[in-house]
Amino acid sequence: MTGPGPDDDGPGPTEWTAGAPEVGVGPWEGPWPTDPHYDPELLEHGDRRNVVDRYRYWRREAVVADLDTRRHPFHVAIENLRHDANIGTIVRTANAFLAAAVHVVGRRRWNRRGAMVTDRYQHIVHHPDVDDLVTWARGESLVVVAVDNGPGAEPLESTRLPRACVLLFGQEGTGLSAEAVAGADLVVSIAQFGSTRSINAGVAAGIAMHAWIREHAT
Ligand SMILES: C[S@@+](CC[C@H](N)C(=O)[O-])C[C@H]1O[C@@H](n2cnc3c(N)ncnc32)[C@H](O)[C@@H]1O
Repeated sequence: MTGPGPDDDGPGPTEWTAGAPEVGVGPWEGPWPTDPHYDPELLEHGDRRNVVDRYRYWRREAVVADLDTRRHPFHVAIENLRHDANIGTIVRTANAFLAAAVHVVGRRRWNRRGAMVTDRYQHIVHHPDVDDLVTWARGESLVVVAVDNGPGAEPLESTRLPRACVLLFGQEGTGLSAEAVAGADLVVSIAQFGSTRSINAGVAAGIAMHAWIREHAT
């Protein structure tokens, strides 16, 4: 490994540059732009971050502020009872689909590796338990949609997802806790046809988020 451990707050994988091909753009050529959303450090040294071209050379705070003007009204939540390695993947996908925020329920620490630094542009909120998440969601008039394949779940493929909602996922092995299913307004499952009991939580989150996008953002 060429960078810090996954739980460190230091540079993430896309900034572990040893041996990796360069991405992004080099130092700004010509007179520097004066708009305050540009970062002098990036203008001087180049911008090798994993961001879309629109945000090249922008300060991180400016990127977050711009994203905040366009975020979608769905939130994503994941139970983190045993340090689930999928949370990073879920944060990255939530960033790509512009979720309002990601909520980590249970343990505060989570494995950042799969986030590929997207956590720096995403609002991440910690809740000590499901009760806290559900109370917060009620206060925000958000429908809590548990995503799991237990008994009584409605098929995601034929269910209308609420526009303002929290998509709540369980973790590998245990799946959603009984408290999470009890606290949800709706439980949806993703159809499977093979022999495995379930799909990876990060993959399930991507499918469910994209279902919301297909219904509300296209
Ligand atoms: C690997 S699953 C484990 C639990 C699962 N209930 C079981 O029977 O084994 C981890 C999480 O991924 C999501 N997930 C996996 N497969 C799913 C499916 N077919 N439908 C909905 N969610 C799923 C759920 O959020 C679930 O809590």
